[in-house]
Order: sequence, then structure tokens, then C-alpha cells
Amino acid sequence: MPKCLICEDQYQPFMSFGRMPLANGFLTAEQFADEYFYELKIGFCPACKMVQLAELVDPEKMFHANYPFYSSTSTRMAAHFGEFAELVMAKYLNSSDPFVVEMGSNDGIMLQHFAGRQIRHLGVEPSGNVAQRAVEKGIQTICRFFDQELARDIVAEQGQADVLLGANVMCHIPDLHSVAAAVRILLKPGGFLLFEDPYLGDTIEKTAYDQIYDEHAFYFSVSSVSYLFEQHGLEVIDVLAQPVHGGSMRYVIAPRGTAKVSERVLALRAREEELGVHKAETYERFRCSVERSRDELVRLLRALKEEGKRVVGYAATSKSTTVINYCGLTSELVEFISDTTPAKQGKFTPGAHIPVKPHKEFTANYPDYALLFGWNHAEEIMGKEQEFKANGGKWIVYVPGVQVI
Ligand code: TMP
Ligand code: ZN
Repeated sequence: MPKCLICEDQYQPFMSFGRMPLANGFLTAEQFADEYFYELKIGFCPACKMVQLAELVDPEKMFHANYPFYSSTSTRMAAHFGEFAELVMAKYLNSSDPFVVEMGSNDGIMLQHFAGRQIRHLGVEPSGNVAQRAVEKGIQTICRFFDQELARDIVAEQGQADVLLGANVMCHIPDLHSVAAAVRILLKPGGFLLFEDPYLGDTIEKTAYDQIYDEHAFYFSVSSVSYLFEQHGLEVIDVLAQPVHGGSMRYVIAPRGTAKVSERVLALRAREEELGVHKAETYERFRCSVERSRDELVRLLRALKEEGKRVVGYAATSKSTTVINYCGLTSELVEFISDTTPAKQGKFTPGAHIPVKPHKEFTANYPDYALLFGWNHAEEIMGKEQEFKANGGKWIVYVPGVQVI
């Protein structure tokens, strides 16, 4: 039985997705022979309520100088981070010369707003290529993993931070105790940590099993997040649901007793109690829903293939790797995947080796169906692909259920 990464108790995984490649391991044909696989298995620890991967991939295999994910590819996400930055400036930056540090700052999509107002800032980003993009935009960035040693170095050089930020990064870090300890070192006594990640409640309610992949070591709820930070003298003082990434939660954390705890924290705890995030049966039910969802999607794609319809994937997202490999999708069923990221184009998807092609190949010859792997960007994508619809094209989505639109 695996040992919980948070409380060190032993727990029983509730589901395996089988042999899985790296979610962002887009590759060339020459790299097929050396492709890395692990078993994607997820478990729930009844002692501390943390949902987590049972087998972890070495972070250096995932976040490196060729990390193909640039945050700024989505205009919706750019707007979201603009709003996030505005909220921080309005509500949480109270000193005269504030200092903001963001972990996992990627290409600077959020910090650019602080840089633009001449607010002291520092991005911490271990993936060299995306960090470089931020530096080119004039955003102070260092290319390292966020840990206690780094926190001490930052304090020595620039002092403690008023605000620490993290978006879609905390759930990637296996050693969260080290992060929480680093937060204690780096954060001013009256400071705040704000971070957001996909929310377990949404993942369960929407059967959004594609949120589960190597980079997401954890699936947070306010229950598990509170447990973790309480070990380090920190507490959750507010929670704010976010519509991004298919349903995220923003947690506001402060040193215990330094700020008022919002009613929203209690309300979310009650919602989680109702949903049963504390109970093993909930995860058994989730597993059954996932299996049903897979069967429906495979049945639909096979039927379309038999009818001679063309199906093309839309957006080679990290999440798609779980769906494609778990459902056993191949280029027989999904001809290619259209994606706007140059670093992915001309390559093949991890595991199943479906070709990834530039968006113009989608528009040049519209398929009958587009399988929306970027379902979390549905509004943005469907909004700009009116012509596909007008040409008789249909969308296939699989979250919260398999559906043709
Ligand atoms: P993510 O869901 O893992 O954030 O990845 C988003 C991917 O989707 C990224 O490779 C870019 C791609 N994408 C498109 O190809 N077209 C789009 O309109 C959007 C919003 C994203
Ligand atoms: Zn635990």
C-alpha cells in the first residue's frame, strides 16, 4: 500500500488508468522507442482526506527546458490572470513597497500585471524555456524549483514577501510540506498566500477524470488543504470558486490567527461533507462513472468510424493524454489533433502517437466531428469556430457527460 504524501498513513488506491505516458510528452517518431511510461493510479487517504497519485513521476522528467505548455496561449486565461492580479493589488497588497512572489510563474501571464505597475515581483519557474519567455517580457524570473533553500535566498536578497501566488502549480509539487515550510520563511507575518488549482469537488461532480495525470500529484479540497497548512501554523481564511480549468478553487492562506476566516470556508466544508469527499464510497462511485464515460465515448467514436465520418481532436491538452490512453483512442478513431502551440505541432501525442497539426489544417478541411479535448475552453473555442458549425460540423464533448453538440 502506498504511503500518504501528506500524513504518511497508508492508504488503498481506488483506481488505475493503466500504463500512461507523460501528459506533456509530445514526441517525434524517432523518440517513440524510448518513450517513458508509468502506472497512473490514484488514491484517497482517509486520515488526512488528500486525494493523490500513488506513483509519482520525477519532476525533472516533466518540467524542463522543453516544457511545451505556455500559459499565454488562451485569451480567456490571460483575462482570468488579469482579474486575479487586480484582486491581489486591491485587497492583499497593503504595504508601501510591496513584494510579490509567484511560484510556477510560467511565461509571466500573471506577474506582467505587477511588472506593469512597477510593483516589486519575482517569478519562480523551473521550466527554462517558459521562464525565458517571461524574462524577455521584462518580468523578474528565476529558473528554480520553489523550496526552503530558495525561500531563504530570496529573503536574504529581497526581503520577505507580502503576497505569494501560485496558479496551477501547488498540486504539481509532491513535497508540499517543503512548500509550506518555504511559505513560512518567505511570507511576512501579516502576508497572504493565494493559490488556485482544479477543485476535487468539480472533478468528482463532472466526472472530469482527465484532470488526473502525472503533473497533478494532488486533487485538493478545502478539507485536505486545511489539514496540510495547519501542520505549518497556517490556515485557510478564504476560498473563491473559479470557472477556469473546468472548475478550480482559489485558497487564501495566512499565518494562523492573523486574519478573519470567511464564512465561505465553512460553507465549502459543508458542501464537501454533502458531496462525501471524506468517504471511500464516493471514490468508488467516481470510478464507476469514469468507466461508464469511457465506454460511451469509445462506443460513439467507433460508431462514427463505421459510418465513415471524420473525427479530429481539438486542442492537444495535457488532460487529453489521460483520455486518449485510458480509452485506447488511436489515429484510426481520431485522425489528428489541431493545436495552436508551435512546440506541439508536427509531433505526436504521448502514448497513442496521434499526429498534432496546426490549426490551419483543421480549418482547411473541416471534419464531420471535432472531439473537444480542451472542453475547459469550450466557450472560447466554440465561440471562434462558428464557421465549423456553419459547415455542418459537430462537437463531441465528454465532460460532464458524453454529448454531441
Ligand atoms: P490545457 O488545457 O492543458 O491548458 O492546454 C491547452 C492547449 O489547448 C494548448 O496546447 C493550446 C490548445 N488550444 C488550442 O489549440 N486552441 C484554442 O483555442 C485554445 C484555447 C487552446
Ligand atoms: Zn494522508
